[in-house]
This record gives sequence, C-alpha cells and structure tokens, in this order.
Amino acid sequence: MDNQWLQTFLADPKLLRMGHGQSASDMNLGLGWLYYAQVRILKPKHIVCIGSWRGFAPMVLAKGLADNAEDGRVSFIDPSMVDHFWADADKTRQWFASFGLNNIDHFRCTTQEFVETAAYRQMREVGILFVDGFHSAEQARFDHEAFMHLLEPGACVFFHDGVRKKNSGIYGADKAYVHTVCDYIDELRSRPDLQVFDFPLADGVAVVSSRIK
Ligand SMILES: C[S@@+](CC[C@H](N)C(=O)[O-])C[C@H]1O[C@@H](n2cnc3c(N)ncnc32)[C@H](O)[C@@H]1O
Repeated sequence: MDNQWLQTFLADPKLLRMGHGQSASDMNLGLGWLYYAQVRILKPKHIVCIGSWRGFAPMVLAKGLADNAEDGRVSFIDPSMVDHFWADADKTRQWFASFGLNNIDHFRCTTQEFVETAAYRQMREVGILFVDGFHSAEQARFDHEAFMHLLEPGACVFFHDGVRKKNSGIYGADKAYVHTVCDYIDELRSRPDLQVFDFPLADGVAVVSSRIK
C-alpha cells in the first residue's frame, strides 16, 4: 500500500465513518491497519465480508489481497438495507474500481438469502471472515456459523462493533436497536478451542481464531 493510494482512499469523507478509527489528517486507517495486516500475514486466497456502509472494510481487505499479488478475492455480502448505495451492480463495480480494486464480488442479499444460493454451495475455503452486518447477537451467530465449516486452519474472524453494546438508528429511527454482538463474543470467549482478542478503538472489533493445540 503506497501513500498515494492511502491518500486517495481517505480523501473521500464517506470512507471516514462507521467507527473504524480512521482519520485523513495523519493518513491513518485505524483498525483498518489490523484488517490489512492480517491479510498480508495470513495471505488468504479468499475473504468473506458481510455488511459495509461504503466499503471501508471490504476495500482494505481487497487492497491487502491485491498487494499479496496472489489473485485473492473478497466475497462481499450486503443487501443494501441502509440505503441504495449497493443497489446497482455497475455502480458498485465502478466504486471499487475507482480505488484500483477489481477483486471484490458483491452479492446483494442477506446472509440468510446467500446460504440458499449456488455461489454459497460452491464456495471455496475462507481465510478471513469479516462480520459487520446486522449487529444482533443472533445475526452475528448466523453469519459466523454460515461460514464456520469453510474456515481454513488458522483463519481469523473479525466482528466489528463486537466489543460493547451501543444504540443504533442506522436503519431509521423506527428501527432503532441495540448492538448485542458482544454477547455472542462472550459466548465464544468461554470456548476452550477459541481465542478472542478485543480491540476497543472507536466502535471496536473482536478477533476470534482457533487456539493452537
Ligand atoms: C452499515 S454496515 C455497519 C455499520 C456500522 N458498523 C453500524 O453501526 O452498524 C451494516 C450493513 O449490514 C448490512 N446488513 C444488514 N443485515 C444484513 C444481513 N442479514 N446480511 C448481510 N448484510 C446485512 C446492511 O445492508 C448494511 O450495509
């Protein structure tokens, strides 16, 4: 990742929101460094990213794959429930391409719908799963369990907004709800086969991976 790419990426105010701790003045990806670093360290060939407002996480992950130069791809699942940003397939492709990224496949559906598709049935192994869809404990569990059997040994799973409860009105005042992903994370924390790291910066991310036996 060179400074030019970073500067262009963070110059767009749409990519500075949603609580990843990013800032343009010091060209800082915040938690994005963690997402990018894991891609560079683990060198996955395939990443699944569930939910994103304007594509910060899927693009940082895709940039890591592009920099690995191993033809890795991101499967990005988002039904565009907040607004129509992901509604048009051409506009979505162009948005990613405007940052030089052509390695993101968008599926415009919920995870519940995605698991009924041929794309899901034919899906290859997943090296990183990034969960940032609907932030209830129940949905986080569904998103995690949908891809659990596909996780490679050594894979890691990010749960954005997974370290604390928070009120959210992102789907409209009449659909306000409380983020309860952290309740699911606490359940995972009690499992002896898993390790959980909390990164409380900004809206926070919890990272879950298998314990080494
Ligand atoms: C806006 S992002 C997350 C933003 C932020 N982290 C927050 O406070 O919620 C959440 C995205 O998840 C998507 N989403 C909601 N329910 C989903 C589901 N069941 N499956 C996949 N994506 C979903 C929405 O379309 C939205 O774009």
